[in-house]
Amino acid sequence: MKLKLMLMCASLLSLSAWAQKVPASAEAKATALLKKMTLEEKVGQMTQVTLGVIAAKVVNHEDGNLDPAKLKKAVVDYKVGSILNVNERALTAEKWRSLITQIQDEVKNTRLQIPVVYGLDGIHGQTYTLNATLFPQSIAMAATRNPELVKLGAKVTAMELRASGVRWNFAPVLDIARQPLWSRVPETYGEDVFLVKTMGAAAIKGYEEDGLQNPTAVASCLKHYLGYSASRSGKDRTPIYLPEIELREYYLPQFREAVKLGAATVMVNSSEINGTPVHASKYLLTDVLKTELGFKGVVVTDWEDIKRLNDRHFVAATPREAVAMAVNAGIDMSMVPSDCSFYYLLIEAVNKGEVSIKRIDDAVKRILVMKYNIGLFDNPYPEPAAFSNFGKTEYQQYALDAAHEAMTLLKNKDNVLPLAKNIKILLAGPAAQSISALNGCWSYTWQGKEEKWYPADSKTIYDAMVAKIGAANVITTTAKGFDDLKNYDATALTNAAAKADVIVLCIGENAYAESPGNIRDLALPKEQEKLAIAAALTGKPVILVLTEGRPRFITNIEPSAKGILMAYWSGKKTGEAIADVLFGDYNPDGRLPYTYHKSMGEIVLYDRKGTEEVREVFNDNIGSGYEPLFPFGHGLSYTTFEYGNITLSSPTISGNAKLIVSVPVTNTGNRAGRHAVELYTRDLYASITPSMKRLRAFEKISLESGETKTVTFIIDNTDLAFVNAALKTVTEPGEFEIMIGDKKAKFTYL
Ligand code: BGC
Repeated sequence: MKLKLMLMCASLLSLSAWAQKVPASAEAKATALLKKMTLEEKVGQMTQVTLGVIAAKVVNHEDGNLDPAKLKKAVVDYKVGSILNVNERALTAEKWRSLITQIQDEVKNTRLQIPVVYGLDGIHGQTYTLNATLFPQSIAMAATRNPELVKLGAKVTAMELRASGVRWNFAPVLDIARQPLWSRVPETYGEDVFLVKTMGAAAIKGYEEDGLQNPTAVASCLKHYLGYSASRSGKDRTPIYLPEIELREYYLPQFREAVKLGAATVMVNSSEINGTPVHASKYLLTDVLKTELGFKGVVVTDWEDIKRLNDRHFVAATPREAVAMAVNAGIDMSMVPSDCSFYYLLIEAVNKGEVSIKRIDDAVKRILVMKYNIGLFDNPYPEPAAFSNFGKTEYQQYALDAAHEAMTLLKNKDNVLPLAKNIKILLAGPAAQSISALNGCWSYTWQGKEEKWYPADSKTIYDAMVAKIGAANVITTTAKGFDDLKNYDATALTNAAAKADVIVLCIGENAYAESPGNIRDLALPKEQEKLAIAAALTGKPVILVLTEGRPRFITNIEPSAKGILMAYWSGKKTGEAIADVLFGDYNPDGRLPYTYHKSMGEIVLYDRKGTEEVREVFNDNIGSGYEPLFPFGHGLSYTTFEYGNITLSSPTISGNAKLIVSVPVTNTGNRAGRHAVELYTRDLYASITPSMKRLRAFEKISLESGETKTVTFIIDNTDLAFVNAALKTVTEPGEFEIMIGDKKAKFTYL
């Protein structure tokens, strides 16, 4: 108590001290401050180090304590402007606040007292604060087709970060999941550019909309600019070969939109595109991002990526050349992060004339403006007004709402679902008693695998089922944790099935993040397939519950499953949401944010081209080139929806005139349900081969049984545009088709 009071007094005192220095606008203030700065102070601002650099212990850093001597060295001697990350795992909100307070206290011992900005990865909730609310991963949020939920999740994340004293969030991920092998698919909003752009924009609003000075907001970080998800091998941080026409059509629009919204910072793709590491690409960082898109904020590197220009990409012969190359390309801040080498290398490079002071000034001004904007100069300390925004009870309901809306019912043969509550269930599979396989990456640890750090009231699928239908009705052959050998015992499953009416088999992927999640094949591990085969051989109805970050092949086992529920990694409330859907307490309404492919030779995305659609020569008589196991947008309900005819406000539009598209949707089943109505267009003929369909708009509605609602979309030429051979975004005159559900309509753009 005493300590808390003392901290509060310290922050109030310093608040008035900082407040006296506040001039008119962030821009003017930054310019004035920049004039007072030495080269060393400027370069220090551009240097970002990890917590390990100032921590008392790097390994077993359980207490989260700092080493005062190391702190002084970083902040006073090297004048570092930013610190990030944790050592091993999440800390309490109080610990974060005391840590940030110590850092800002140390700042007072510097000449200009420029506050340090701390950055953390709050990817699906505030990852690194214990008991923070974890929402579904972005891939699952995309399945909700509900941008309001994305925004709400981002707002809660912002509040829990800020309550922890942290004002910079390394999110949202705007990468697009067009390479299903990639280990970061779960961090994305899926395969479609409109979906990524819409959900990304909603997240940025959630983080920043309240105004960065406000204790409910954080600076966002758009990542990973640009093209990061397109690695040829599917392995993280491996080479990308991407023609610019594709880069501009699928990878850039979401960044353009986010920059328009005023997002504060951007983090750079660690990989190379067409042989140029993005950290060394003046074209992408300066010409496209800062000039063409008009980005005014801070460009930060990803982890160690300047060093890697020298020791992995081999485009810079020395570490100093790497620093000069990156800063000249447009990098403003280096996530060094394990030492301060960037600091002296950049000073050397400037002194040798390899980097201009003009470039340094531009970078530092961007950093200072950000610091003014997030209110650090007014009060760099954790704000008491933010503390009570941590862990509010209603956040649990928001997390449940999001998990509910993410649940995507892929198959329901003979209406096997929902299940009656008085039957005996055999619950099997490695995910049945795992918490980490429900939450995935960035969950209290980077990899998300250490269950001891999850909140004590986290429920497994088993816990949630027992809570719903009673322990007597749930038989299980599983043990706690994904990897326990018991979970893979097919004989035990076969024997236990005799006593059960239905088998619920929970399979998929345990948590992983980044390179540790690299795989050689999208096939499900053999031992999981064996479980599914054993389950099918019992003759009992089998329901597959998939908890996974990316679409692992289930082609061999799908035919023998009567029901399939895709649960993704849907955060804290995944277990409850699964049980609610399986037993009919929630009517599922999620829609796939990606194509669920059949096999490696059949990776065709939903917005395929004509030559992918119609195959010329095939000896297996497959008619269409897009025959995935489940298409993009697939998702069943316990009720049925029918679409009436589409009405257009006009058969033609020209210039930037609006076309109003309406469609009546009726709930023809016997229970209420939510439904995301999606509008796709097809450009019938164009100078660049058009896609067979492109998502242009969606809206989620709720309908009572028997109810009809008319959904209205307004589109214009920008929704019909594409990148042409001259790399310009254009709308060409001609005929277009609109597709909503099973209905179609045509119009002409004049
Ligand atoms: C990841 C980033 C993350 C950064 C800081 C990197 O390895 O690629 O997404 O923001 O670490 O934790």
